[in-house]
Amino acid sequence: MAHNTIPTSPPVERAFLVGVELRSEKPLISMEDSLGELALLARTVNLEIVGETSQKIDVPNPSTLVGTGKVEEIALLAEECLADVVIFDTELSPRHQRELEERFGVKLRVLDRTALILDIFAQHARTSEGILQVSLAQYEYRLPRLTRAWTHLARQAGGGGGRAGSIGGVGLRGPGETQLEVDRREIHKRISMLKKELEKVRAHRQRYRAQRKRSRIPLISLVGYTNAGKSTLLNHLTNAGVLVADQLFATLDPTTRRIELPGGHQALITDTVGFIQKLPTQLIAAFQATLEEISEADLLIHVVDVTHPNAIEQARSVEQTLREIHAEQIPVLTALNKIDRLPEPELTNEFLSGQSRSVGISALKGLGIEELLRAIEEDLFENFSQVSAQIPYTEGQLISLFHEQGQVVRIEHGRKGVFIQGYIPGRLLARFFPYQSASPQDDDETESWSEPN
Ligand code: GTP
Repeated sequence: MAHNTIPTSPPVERAFLVGVELRSEKPLISMEDSLGELALLARTVNLEIVGETSQKIDVPNPSTLVGTGKVEEIALLAEECLADVVIFDTELSPRHQRELEERFGVKLRVLDRTALILDIFAQHARTSEGILQVSLAQYEYRLPRLTRAWTHLARQAGGGGGRAGSIGGVGLRGPGETQLEVDRREIHKRISMLKKELEKVRAHRQRYRAQRKRSRIPLISLVGYTNAGKSTLLNHLTNAGVLVADQLFATLDPTTRRIELPGGHQALITDTVGFIQKLPTQLIAAFQATLEEISEADLLIHVVDVTHPNAIEQARSVEQTLREIHAEQIPVLTALNKIDRLPEPELTNEFLSGQSRSVGISALKGLGIEELLRAIEEDLFENFSQVSAQIPYTEGQLISLFHEQGQVVRIEHGRKGVFIQGYIPGRLLARFFPYQSASPQDDDETESWSEPN
């Protein structure tokens, strides 16, 4: 289905969207909803949506992804709508991109969901690390897709830390092959410079992390689908002044603040990048360091926009990304946000029941915040969990941590390390997770000691 809209002024680029679904795949979000999300992404970078179409396919066409007839149909519809760009709601392989560009000709550019998300990230990155990470992801994405000379490179000011550019730069029009080779070499050079710079920033981050660990103040990470309300919640909790915007991925770089809980305990709380389904793999790789912050948290607050028609699917998608970054073992508290927009807010407690503890809140109106803070305090400081772990001697600080903050019931010193059983606050569970063991791993020469009953 295609529909026309009247162009607005000043002239913005006009985009035609194409949904593609493999019949064998079971996507979290329906093709229609995914296209709706793609339209939001496109509007975030100021594109005007002038039409859309979709196709379910059994097997991807090796050269053009969708069938030849569909390619012709897209070209016709896009022309009718006076589109400048066609955006596929999936990641196109370099070959698909190349072949489609050839079929559509120079008047119609081809983009995919990944390029769009990378572009939004590029616009929203603020810290030097964020900018470096996005630039690296953009260059790595573009390198195999460089088909025409990249005139954009020539226009860029030098410096490895520079942004890789925005959608406009994907235009790829230029003189010819030699230029193409120059561009490829240039991109390789920039990629290696960016990697070196990122190494330096990461070393600095490591030192900061070590310092934070020594401070022993527990760390809470806010996670959630893009636009769920994480920044609004952080602002409400801390008056942090973090950018709150009704647009996708307004928050890209983590912001950490200290909060005081009702019982007087303190915690650090950090906002993180919003998640989205089909998050490009380049971005997950590029943002590994930032995402690692999440896996180092003692507690995750999963902010869900309960008023969104796809709230459950969005929550599942966040859980999937958490598994991908190996953060699934961290305790989760679900904050069901925007209850002020619900006719019967009390119903939210039924929502998502069974997946984790949840509290209904309105970050905007300040509803349910006291309850959320109490739940955080309970999880971090009051609920103890049973642990049984084999800890190597090289992790001496973990053994001291257990003694200081937990209750040791049984301890055995062996050749390979210390086997320890007892109870620790839930927030520390994740730290012992890698060493979990039901019984001691040394079979001889152990010295055993048990807490007297
Ligand atoms: P990303 O940066 O994309 O990850 O978004 P985010 O999760 O940080 O969302 P943000 O806090 O920027 O909020 C997105 C939009 O939802 C803004 O327009 C907020 O004003 C609105 N919003 C957040 N919380 C609430 C709420 O409790 N009720 C209502 N009605 N709107 C809210």
